[in-house]
Amino acid sequence: MKVKLKNVFVIYFLVSVIGLMYALLQLGQPCDCTQHLKSASDLIHAKEKKLSQLQNELKRLQGREKVPEPAEQALPVIYAVTPTYARLVQKAELVRLSQTLLHVKNLHWIVVEDAPAKTQLVSELLAQSHLRFTHLHTETPKEHKRKESDPNWLKPRGVEQRNLALQWLRENHELGKKAVVYFADDDNTYSLRLFDEIRSTKRVSVWPVGLVGGLRFERPLVENSKVVGFYTAWKPNRPFPMDMAGFAVALDLLLANREAHFDLLAERGYLESSLLQSLVSIEELEPKADNCTKVLVWHTRTEKPKMKQEELLQKQGLGSDPSIEV
Ligand code: UGA
Ligand code: MN
Repeated sequence: MKVKLKNVFVIYFLVSVIGLMYALLQLGQPCDCTQHLKSASDLIHAKEKKLSQLQNELKRLQGREKVPEPAEQALPVIYAVTPTYARLVQKAELVRLSQTLLHVKNLHWIVVEDAPAKTQLVSELLAQSHLRFTHLHTETPKEHKRKESDPNWLKPRGVEQRNLALQWLRENHELGKKAVVYFADDDNTYSLRLFDEIRSTKRVSVWPVGLVGGLRFERPLVENSKVVGFYTAWKPNRPFPMDMAGFAVALDLLLANREAHFDLLAERGYLESSLLQSLVSIEELEPKADNCTKVLVWHTRTEKPKMKQEELLQKQGLGSDPSIEV
């Protein structure tokens, strides 16, 4: 038989095409090793999921704020306004206060430094606090600042700082959101129960303060659920003979009275009155803490630490490491 060259080519062509098609069809088929690959990719997938869960957890833990639950967001906000100034015990005071405030729902901490600029110490403390906060600063004018040698009662303290917080609140409050303002000094001791009392303030609420005014406590006197006077020994004729820690003001009232502020020139003991006089009358005060029979805040004052050894060592050039923050 005579084999035509053309036929050889045709057969060769057909065989190659069929071979090629077979090879192509095989590509999509599973091979023996697929099972291994599949379980490996499942494992990677599971690990990736775990990793992202852990990353979220880490974000939450490192987060600047704890995430409020919806029920918490419905509560009136408590704005705690804290004036503060640099001194040896400042960090200790602020750590203690911030960790109390962490337990309070829907709270916004306004910290106002009595300083020409925000300090690193307070900035870092706030950033790591997990609290919702606003950080402000304003320096008390020199002529109004207490000198080291002055007795501590000579000049009112934290006045411009609280006024700056009032200004911030009037400019930045969330429209329509109910809120209460409480002036929480950095050195007092606060029961968590106090904040439950503060939260329901309609205009101005009041309660006793422990360890103040040379007494075991000072308190508003209540009859038929109305404030009728004050139990106090020092300057009882003041319009509102109360400590700063003994009242809270509804933000609405501060917005309705945009001029109300603390008076830098207020006579000793009259600072609280200088604000309250332009806001309420005594009959309008809302008594809290079981008709003002429970002490839930204490006017504690921290002793100034003695630095005798530190100073002696410093003179010898052996003072403590200044890079360690106290
Ligand atoms: C009492 C009241 O409890 C204060 O609320 C009130 O401001 C003060 O009297 C006053 O008459 O001015 P006291 O314990 O004697 O308080 O005052 P501090 O606790 O020394 O100061 C009150 C707040 O102001 C604190 O938060 C403190 O850190 C801050 N402060 C104090 C400054 O911001 N700058 C200062 O130079 C001193
Ligand atoms: Mn104090």
